[in-house]
Amino acid sequence: MIRQAIIPLAGLGTRLLPLTSVYAKELLPINGKAGLEYIIDECIDAGIKEIIFIISKKKEIIRKYFYNDKFFKKIIKKKKDLRIINEYKKIKKFKKMIKFVYQNNPKGTGDAVLKTKNLIKDKYFLMLLPDDLIIKRNCSKDMILIHNKKKCSVMASMRVQKKTINRWGIYSKKNNINKNNFYINDVVEKPDIKSAPSNNAVIGRYILPKKIFKKLQNQKKGKGGEIHITDSIRRLIKDGETFVGHNFKGKYLDCGTIDGYINSSIEISKI
Ligand code: G1P
Repeated sequence: MIRQAIIPLAGLGTRLLPLTSVYAKELLPINGKAGLEYIIDECIDAGIKEIIFIISKKKEIIRKYFYNDKFFKKIIKKKKDLRIINEYKKIKKFKKMIKFVYQNNPKGTGDAVLKTKNLIKDKYFLMLLPDDLIIKRNCSKDMILIHNKKKCSVMASMRVQKKTINRWGIYSKKNNINKNNFYINDVVEKPDIKSAPSNNAVIGRYILPKKIFKKLQNQKKGKGGEIHITDSIRRLIKDGETFVGHNFKGKYLDCGTIDGYINSSIEISKI
């Protein structure tokens, strides 16, 4: 059973400046709804019961979004607007599920995950990277089904263009399980085109084992001086931990860049 999800939210979002100079990128509206809410909806629909947000002092606005009761109550008392009442109900429901931990120094995704160590209860947990929206299909739900069957770690995968390979974690495949799933032999963070083992990229949905914390505790800095989750995953695979790559069925939207962010609203408005 996968009951807990973690979401790293401490990143500065420099690729979305100036929007992110005063605002959290994960709260930017995508077709009229905060981007983060799409990720929360995906979690709830996949059966997740608790979500751990990894924020920073600079991203307190995210906590405020869910802890603004006084404000909502005052407005609702005055206006009795049904839309606002329903929105507040939804926020309260989300709030009940969310816990916060802090990563005040953005040292990389691996370091962010390590901050949740004392809160993870089960053998496996889900991680979602909020820059990666997947629409038209619940990728987390599909990955949990695979996990339940195979009792192993699972990561989302997508074929990418060769010229963009040095922007992603890239898989080396062991063998195919079926059309949409394969056993992972290795994974390399942002390789150059020449040394890339494939063009199957890691997309931001991971089912990870609790064991990963042991690796993260002594994980050395990797590409760009950051502590990458990919490097610890790689060490777990070397130790014999099974990881399945899942070619997800939905449509991928990259909300971490301006062009991608604009396109996300357009794509979602078409659904
Ligand atoms: C992170 C991961 C990378 C993965 C990507 C997916 O990179 O480190 O392996 O392919 O997310 O979006 P980032 O986007 O933080 O550079």
